[in-house]
Amino acid sequence: MTNIGVFDSGLGGLTVLKELVKDKKANYFYFGDSLRAPYGNLSNSKIIDFSDQIVKFLENYNIDQYIIACNTISTLATDYLKEKYKKPFYPITESGLEDALTFKGDFLVLATQTTVNSHFYKKNIEKNSEAFVHEVAAPNLVSLIEDGVISGKKLEESLEEYLKIANKNHIPNIILGCTHYPIIKNEIERNLAYKANIINPAVNISSKLNFKEDDETSVNIFMSEVNEKNKQIIDKILACDYKLMLKEI
Ligand code: DGL
Repeated sequence: MTNIGVFDSGLGGLTVLKELVKDKKANYFYFGDSLRAPYGNLSNSKIIDFSDQIVKFLENYNIDQYIIACNTISTLATDYLKEKYKKPFYPITESGLEDALTFKGDFLVLATQTTVNSHFYKKNIEKNSEAFVHEVAAPNLVSLIEDGVISGKKLEESLEEYLKIANKNHIPNIILGCTHYPIIKNEIERNLAYKANIINPAVNISSKLNFKEDDETSVNIFMSEVNEKNKQIIDKILACDYKLMLKEI
């Protein structure tokens, strides 16, 4: 039995879980902290503390390998969690960086304020290529998505603002530096005045992970808030059977 822990501040990490389930058989235990999302505007110490609480809860399920399905947590808490729990933690940002380095041309990183402040993608891409990396923090997007706003005028107004620099410079590559954004990938594309290469760090994640596969898959989802809106989004993202449980930590 291989138990895989996957976690995020809310619904976003389900876009990562979706890719994992498609390619690797295992028992998945997901935690999404929708009640306290967004994390991206919180203090660093709060983000580390909340991530620690999530992992402490998931430890009840004998997790063999964790996937940090949140860029914000990845940039801030990976070292802390590895050190504290002495288990493998794979940050989604590693997958995003690896994918990004396969493309030519400049980049826009669209991410939360915390991820932008870390300059993780910018520092590492610029160090390893000739590219220039623009960064835009998109503080409204996670709240909108968590509230079920995944299309319409309100979302478009925010996207228009956040994509201004991309539309002005026709930046060829756009990294979705927050796992919530693949949920609105079509809307992002619709608000671009040109055709960009959109990089979703989760798409190739399973090829980068090495764990012993099971014969079957089970998907257990714990959310700190469950309501009609987020249930609809979960169904929209996941094409597999799953068990949904409300769990406040
Ligand atoms: N999905 C998280 C990420 O990848 C969003 C963080 C937040 O809650 O602001 O960064």
